[in-house]
Amino acid sequence: MSTLSGMIHFTVRPLQLGDETALCRFYAGLSAQSRHYYEPFKDISEEAFRAVVQKAVEGTDLSLIALEPEGNIFAHFFIGNVTQDVPHLGIGMLDRCQNSGLGRVFLTHLIALARHSLNKQAIGLTVMKENARAFTLYSKLGFRVVGETSFRSENDSYEMRLELKSAR
Ligand SMILES: CC(C)(COP(=O)(O)OP(=O)(O)OC[C@H]1O[C@@H](n2cnc3c(N)ncnc32)[C@H](O)[C@@H]1OP(=O)(O)O)[C@@H](O)C(=O)NCCC(=O)NCCS
Repeated sequence: MSTLSGMIHFTVRPLQLGDETALCRFYAGLSAQSRHYYEPFKDISEEAFRAVVQKAVEGTDLSLIALEPEGNIFAHFFIGNVTQDVPHLGIGMLDRCQNSGLGRVFLTHLIALARHSLNKQAIGLTVMKENARAFTLYSKLGFRVVGETSFRSENDSYEMRLELKSAR
């Protein structure tokens, strides 16, 4: 799974009841480096993921997973708290699937959902300044830095925003 063109088949679908164990395994399978950049959930126990799945099922979050044919989750990408004016997105992929072009594909899909299904004016995210790959990708997709914020240490991250509708 090194390039998009050489990619095997995969499935993308919303998170649903019964995904707790696979989601737990996905987060436990991220490397320390990936977890350093991407840690949306402090508690990665199966019990904790019951609440995550519940929020997806009831529509609080728009939460998608990508699965290999064997059923392993290799990516989780989501828009949290969809009723907010400018909801934030998150994305993480297993290390062996990174730098494959798929992050761009999944983010493009999330952006389209925010624009056309959720009808949002804008979407936001935070990214660590040292996370060069993610920052580059977000910038190429049109996100712009709107401020600084703290994640692991003071002001170690950028607040970014993508305008989805032109001002009238
Ligand atoms: C961030 C992440 C979702 C991106 O997905 P991906 O499949 O790896 O990214 P893509 O291959 O689609 O795109 C990466 C882009 O950055 C570029 N890039 C790769 N490594 C880079 C680096 N070290 N510095 C700058 N740019 C880099 C690539 O050339 C590519 O640009 P292109 O589409 O114009 O060719 C994925 O790497 C990941 O899960 N990382 C760990 C968790 C994480 O950081 N999540 C985000 C937290 S904010």
